[in-house]
Amino acid sequence: MPSVSNPNLPLSIIRFSTISAYRAWRHEALLDGKTVGFVPTMGALHEGHISLVKRSLVANDLTVVSIFVNPAQFAPHEDLATYPRTLPRDMELLKDLKVDVADQTSGDRVKRRVAAVFAPTVVEMYPSGIVQNIAEQKGAFVEVKGFGHQMEGKSRPTFFRGVTTVVTKLFNVVQPTHAYFGQKDIQQALILKRLCRDLLFGYPEHQNVHIIPTERDSTDELALSSRNQYLTVDGRKVASILIEALKAAAKAWTESRSKAECIEEAYRTVERKEAKAKSDGLQVVIKLDYIEMNDAESFDVLEGEVQRDEEESRVVILSGALYIDKTRLIDNILLGNASHIIG
Ligand code: PAF
Repeated sequence: MPSVSNPNLPLSIIRFSTISAYRAWRHEALLDGKTVGFVPTMGALHEGHISLVKRSLVANDLTVVSIFVNPAQFAPHEDLATYPRTLPRDMELLKDLKVDVADQTSGDRVKRRVAAVFAPTVVEMYPSGIVQNIAEQKGAFVEVKGFGHQMEGKSRPTFFRGVTTVVTKLFNVVQPTHAYFGQKDIQQALILKRLCRDLLFGYPEHQNVHIIPTERDSTDELALSSRNQYLTVDGRKVASILIEALKAAAKAWTESRSKAECIEEAYRTVERKEAKAKSDGLQVVIKLDYIEMNDAESFDVLEGEVQRDEEESRVVILSGALYIDKTRLIDNILLGNASHIIG
């Protein structure tokens, strides 16, 4: 069994594909009193994932990354078969990653690297089997009721059940002290916090589920996502339309305009950008799925002409989804003081 005794300088990342091997390693870490930071991913790693891993490296003795494309969160018509699977490249990326931290006893600067990758098979994770059609599924599934049908859940009704099921399994195996998720998937991250709170998880406790700000392309602020690699050259040129639309709505919100006007601003921005793409001769089909404003606590849609002074104290999720050809992009901006949610 590879040792956890010198986590700061592992020769290489340990890759586990079985739960039993991982558990033996985790048991040793527990006996050694090590904290474990965890970044669950579906692979095809990008700078967004790397920023989560760095956060974990800084704050934990050991960092574990999981790479598992979870069939249960894809509807039958979605992209499970084509989802990018790049494990060797992902391992290389993680191997090269290191952060400088101060050693707790000596105070010396030491380099910390990812300690382990958990990359199980589908059979390992779904011992009762898994099909994508939920009417035909058998076995245990986990649902956070009342929070999975708004925003993303409206367009992807079985998505969050798949996510909460797999993350429950991953948390049960990995036993993380802290876990890290990106703000791009804000609804997912908030639901997972609630999952840990409502099911009284000890690994991690809900307050140790951290939401880290979205990493963006430095030129046009497109939110980084593994699915961006589906975009064509023309598609990539217009992919920042969603964040531009959200920013237009956010600006209207800060000008104290009504919710309806904010959403209208967003729609107008999409229409304008779409017309420009057409006049520039770009070969791309742009289709807005939704732009919505929801309360960050209840996920309720903000209703009608809400009193703005009532709004000051609450956080609002301004979110949207947009198809560029067949690629579905999502993004969000948090309105209000979200410092208790992010970080
Ligand atoms: O955000 C993701 O990549 C996935 O939904 C997650 C959390 C790894 C579960 O499969």
